[in-house]
Amino acid sequence: MFDVLVAYGTESGNAEMAADDIAANLEARGIKADVKSLDNLSITELSKIPHFVIVTSTYGEGELPETTAPFYAELDSNTPDLSGITFSAFGLGDSTYNNFNNAINIVSRKLIELGATQLGETGMHDAATGKSLTLAATTWIDMITINSANEHNS
Ligand SMILES: Cc1cc2nc3c(=O)[nH]c(=O)nc-3n(C[C@H](O)[C@H](O)[C@H](O)COP(=O)(O)O)c2cc1C
Repeated sequence: MFDVLVAYGTESGNAEMAADDIAANLEARGIKADVKSLDNLSITELSKIPHFVIVTSTYGEGELPETTAPFYAELDSNTPDLSGITFSAFGLGDSTYNNFNNAINIVSRKLIELGATQLGETGMHDAATGKSLTLAATTWIDMITINSANEHNS
């Protein structure tokens, strides 16, 4: 059994790479992490997971990418009670587009509306900066885990 599920939604594969980087970073610190595409994650499965990391890019004109859209539609139509769940959120976007990183904000808002609690700040990668996605994703997950550990110990 894993401790954290890293679930990604993507159009052209970058969010999957970021999810793999985040999981590898967690594993290196002894936290067992599983990676899954959002279009393979059922609501029943989600409600059994205590903590998950959601990673999604934004596509079109501020829209959800191909594999995030069915997950969001399921949340929207089934309105499950997610009050036992915590999540952390990381988005991929490009600030040369309008609606920068809109998708991660849409999905996070929906999870919170359904009762889930967000841990830490939403991380965002901006492809327009040319900065490394791996570095952005791993720096972000370092910060989330350090802050969570500090909160837990205080
Ligand atoms: C056709 C197209 C539309 C995009 N639209 C947006 C957008 O509206 N907002 C945004 O922040 N980024 C947008 N992006 C940037 C992507 O989110 C970014 O390239 C991301 O790294 C893609 O990740 P993925 O491969 O996981 O889908 C767009 C990219 C493309 C190619």
